[in-house]
Amino acid sequence: MSIATMYRRFAESEAHGVSGMYEEWACGVAEDLTVQALLGTLPPGKGQPNLVFAAARSQGAPLGNYQDFRNWLLGNWQNVDPVIRTRSTQTNEAGRCAVLLSQLAAIEGPVALLEVGASAGLCLYPDRYSYTYRQADRQIRVDPPRPTGVVLECELRGDATAPTRVPEVVWRAGIDLNPLDVTAREDLQWLEALIWPEHEVRRQRLRTAAAVVAADPPRLVAGDLNREIGRLARQAPPEATLVIFHSAVLTYLTPGERQEFVDQVSALDCIWLSNEGQQVLPGIAARMPRAATVPDGAFVLAANGHPVAFTGPHGQYIHSLS
Ligand SMILES: C[S@@+](CC[C@H](N)C(=O)[O-])C[C@H]1O[C@@H](n2cnc3c(N)ncnc32)[C@H](O)[C@@H]1O
Repeated sequence: MSIATMYRRFAESEAHGVSGMYEEWACGVAEDLTVQALLGTLPPGKGQPNLVFAAARSQGAPLGNYQDFRNWLLGNWQNVDPVIRTRSTQTNEAGRCAVLLSQLAAIEGPVALLEVGASAGLCLYPDRYSYTYRQADRQIRVDPPRPTGVVLECELRGDATAPTRVPEVVWRAGIDLNPLDVTAREDLQWLEALIWPEHEVRRQRLRTAAAVVAADPPRLVAGDLNREIGRLARQAPPEATLVIFHSAVLTYLTPGERQEFVDQVSALDCIWLSNEGQQVLPGIAARMPRAATVPDGAFVLAANGHPVAFTGPHGQYIHSLS
């Protein structure tokens, strides 16, 4: 796909209605041969809008119209280029815990959490956040035994019901190709840059959740999830229910790698929670109820390979499929 087409598609199907600034920037790049020529010098897969815009913002690109962004980018490319080459899109969204909690809350007794594709591990702390679930004019609050002040908001749709408690997490660990460290300023700044310009609520949520995680950092293993999952799963305490979960991760794998993961996780003695785009795992997509119309961009939450809900990609809502 040409750079122009990639940016035009991004503007129309990802940024439109979500970030006016990224939509304008992406439309601008789609028409701008000079900027396209710069992006053409990057290795394959590195010219994607999300990564390029985040790298530029992390180096001080002005938030505003395309012309100003373009002028800045042309003058500062020598600083942006190495960031694009060394960083990747590792957006970590604690808000996804609000949809995972619908399954985790039902598990009695101690739980061992293992997240594959954990980024900085913000989703490994569903037991430390508070939640406000909204349904029509009702609000249902769920608090951990010792609230940390982080409140995740989630709308209940369809017949979804609010969880009543947080799980008792006794062990947590994650795997990532490149674990981020929320106690490191540069990693936290990168996570902030990955959040789109207008999304101030998400930036606030990142900062507060990161502070909770920084106070008790998780164990994050660097490596490929298919390579590391078996070894790490065996280290979970046997008296706890092992939950292996992932969100917004398997899309980065080839179809063969996804199947390898499904085979591995299915053979382990665990509860498997998947929260991914609807086409990512064909086995789960094939089990969707025929009548279900999943909105564009929604994720599908599945337990042990069976779809249970579709969810807002940042945990904004949960729509039960039952
Ligand atoms: C978009 S982030 C999602 C992070 C987190 N799961 C969340 O929901 O906030 C995807 C993460 O998956 C990681 N990742 C991608 N492919 C991987 C692989 N083969 N093995 C381990 N981690 C991987 C990336 O490094 C990145 O941190």
